[in-house]
Amino acid sequence: MNINDSEKIKGILQTQGYEPATKEEEADLVILNTCTIREKPDQKVWSHLGEIKKLKSKNPNVKIGVCGCMAQRAGYEIASKMPFVDMVFGTKNIHRIPNLLEELRLGNRAIEILEQEDPLEEILDSYPTIRDNSYCAYVTIMRGCDKECTYCVVPFTRGKERSRAPQSIIDEVKSLVDSGVMEIHLIGQNVTAYGKDINYPFYRLLEDISKIEGVKRIRFTTGHPRDLTDEIIDVMAELPNMVNHIHLPFQAGSDRILDLMKRNYTKAYYLNRIERLKSKIKDVSFSTDIIIGFPTETEEDFEHTLDVIKTVEFEQVFSFKYSKRPNTPAYYMEDDLTDEIKTDRMKRLLEIQKAITSKLMKRYENTIQKVLIEDKKDNIYIGRTTTNVWCNVISDRDIMGKEVEVLITKSGFQSLEGTLKNVL
Ligand code: 5AD
Ligand code: SF4
Repeated sequence: MNINDSEKIKGILQTQGYEPATKEEEADLVILNTCTIREKPDQKVWSHLGEIKKLKSKNPNVKIGVCGCMAQRAGYEIASKMPFVDMVFGTKNIHRIPNLLEELRLGNRAIEILEQEDPLEEILDSYPTIRDNSYCAYVTIMRGCDKECTYCVVPFTRGKERSRAPQSIIDEVKSLVDSGVMEIHLIGQNVTAYGKDINYPFYRLLEDISKIEGVKRIRFTTGHPRDLTDEIIDVMAELPNMVNHIHLPFQAGSDRILDLMKRNYTKAYYLNRIERLKSKIKDVSFSTDIIIGFPTETEEDFEHTLDVIKTVEFEQVFSFKYSKRPNTPAYYMEDDLTDEIKTDRMKRLLEIQKAITSKLMKRYENTIQKVLIEDKKDNIYIGRTTTNVWCNVISDRDIMGKEVEVLITKSGFQSLEGTLKNVL
């Protein structure tokens, strides 16, 4: 979401006459887009701001802005502790950048953090989005999250769910395809809940996008298992351009911890979703997010997390040590597990996962995979399989931006290698 927000911010700035600087030192305006999901990114912002401050001693005219989730959560604190910061805005007023720039031009500090969602936010759709990747594009389909996972700061930083109008999404996808984009990556905090507020279910949006001429691949991130309905799974299985990969965070395996996290599902329910996906979608692959060491997590609770990992066999696991976030319901629970215990559990989990990933990566060897080439380094073309695995392709032909069939000759832990067989 932050990447796509930055792409949108670039688009807005372009309409205001700005163009990208090649170096920070040459910029008239530096905007830091921030994350606050865990404590670490938060700390990074404070230290990076210290670095950015130095730009002002070299060029007193440079304006410094801070936006994103941390600005939404702690923008006034940033403004008061960091007087050299000229501009602060949250996640709910990106569309107001032109007004904020006007404040800067008038010589004022532009500090504006909207508490409530602004109905005028829709104007964002009319601004361009400037993307670096010419072949795979993020498309925001909704903003905010109505779930109340007790550890999560997102409902506070991103606000209530707001679905973007289907026609606006479809128009953007059409223009992306016209400009050569092949992979559409639908994003939002909880895309599986798309359309609840406008009575337009997510699976219908998937069908609409699938029909657009030239859309080679559709992905989405992230879905909440609770909203992953049978209809969505069935439509995913039917659509020819839907990839066979899903990122489905499960966070914890123990029902007691899931209940404390207020995830609104059980381990059995999660495994049932996985079973249905496996039975409907050929060669489907999975990735997930896990939180380790949520308050009161016992060894027995953690064993359930390990059990889910072994049962599902995710290709990729993103695991995070629990980190207490201000304002969240879990903030008021004692963070009773020591860092030592969290680190130990993380180590054990990653060891098990390593063996699973290695085994799953091996299975690609000597198979033909469809790879969408989106980059080139030296003489090697780089792209992703439909299962979202990076693949280096050796080819004498120029295959940039093409979907190709590749014979996989070697598998590593994080990427594959292969030779070109066919251009599709
Ligand atoms: N502590 C640790 N991890 C967290 N996540 C969200 N909130 C926290 C927290 N307080 C993780 C979840 C989520 C991912 C984006 O970040 O696993 O899916
Ligand atoms: Fe946070 Fe995701 Fe839960 Fe929403 S569904 S509250 S974004 S973890």
